[in-house]
Amino acid sequence: MKAKIAVLPGDGIGPEVTVQARRVLEMVGENFDHEFSFEEAHVGGIAIDECGDPLPEQTLNLCRESDAVLFGAIGGPKWDDPNAPVRPEQGLLRLRRGLGVFANIRPVKPHPDLIDQAPLKPELLRDVDLIVIRELTGGIYFGHKSRENDVAVDTCTYSVGEVERIVRIAASLAREREGRLTSVDKANVLETSRLWRATAERVVHDEFPDVKLEHVLVDAAAMHLLQKPDYFDVIVTENMFGDILTDEASVLAGSMGLLPSASLSDDGPGLYEPIHGSAPDIAGLGIANPYAAISSAAMLLRHSLKLDEEADAVERAVARAVHEGALTVDLVRDERKSMTTAEVGDRVCELLSTCT
Ligand code: NAI
Ligand code: MG
Repeated sequence: MKAKIAVLPGDGIGPEVTVQARRVLEMVGENFDHEFSFEEAHVGGIAIDECGDPLPEQTLNLCRESDAVLFGAIGGPKWDDPNAPVRPEQGLLRLRRGLGVFANIRPVKPHPDLIDQAPLKPELLRDVDLIVIRELTGGIYFGHKSRENDVAVDTCTYSVGEVERIVRIAASLAREREGRLTSVDKANVLETSRLWRATAERVVHDEFPDVKLEHVLVDAAAMHLLQKPDYFDVIVTENMFGDILTDEASVLAGSMGLLPSASLSDDGPGLYEPIHGSAPDIAGLGIANPYAAISSAAMLLRHSLKLDEEADAVERAVARAVHEGALTVDLVRDERKSMTTAEVGDRVCELLSTCT
């Protein structure tokens, strides 16, 4: 097949991990006889430096006319001045909105070979296999903001339609898995959460009677994620709660550098990015973990290009590489045994060629 992929490396470690993900996609193209074309564009801090806009129009246009978008990470101390007129994060938020990618899918399944060194007890992690579905284009990140003297305001808004569509995606996914859906909210305090809960209840009752829905308050969910992480199947939640809970869930997998994500709209190109940020503390050192970016590329193959066999091949190559100990420094106790970002990318590409 032919596919056009927009590549937005961004800032910090974004370019370092994205180039490895792109190489893996190129290798998949070669091995499976697909014609993938790649076009790069700037986003975030680097785009601000270049033209004063964290999401230049040509970047958004490129994404819109592509089949999928591979995204790195944005931001860093250079652009952190609170008085700056624009921030890199605005580029990512506008991109998500611009592409209408309201459904952010974040799978969390610890690799069996990494369980022993994770901060949680191995017996808690062995059976963890959960997916967080985070609403991505609504809520407090997109609400009206204002600041006047000593008072700042952020507003959180959700409509029934926004909740319905994300709950449908989560419930369909739950149906293909264990059939259990946990909706996370703060309905004891927030009006948006009460609307969320009632809507989730109705959608699942009317359209997914075979799915078992439960509601958990976000503070309790944060605790359960560490206490009994293997309990969860599919979690659906609003934008900010999903942001926070998935950083927490990355601890279950062993590193921020392992978790991929897919952001999908009803039609149009999907956006694929690691859940981590630009990691300025390690940027430029060549030691960033590329697995989250590479696994995001696997999700791109699966969700946007419908190439399941190819996606499976990438996931198998990643699993084998991890099993062999092809690990960056965030995942090894003995630094001397660690590999660089590029070496891990090399190994995944080699394994892809030999085991497909
Ligand atoms: P971060 O995710 O960049 O880093 C958190 C910690 O995890 C750091 O110690 C970092 O070294 C480590 N880490 C992250 N990714 C890693 C990888 N692939 N391999 C090895 N270690 C990794 O979050 P932080 O430090 O809060 O934010 C840094 C910058 O990134 C900020 O400017 C923030 O706004 C931005 N950011 C961007 C996001 C995005 O582009 N989607 C998401 C989150 C933050
Ligand atoms: Mg986050």
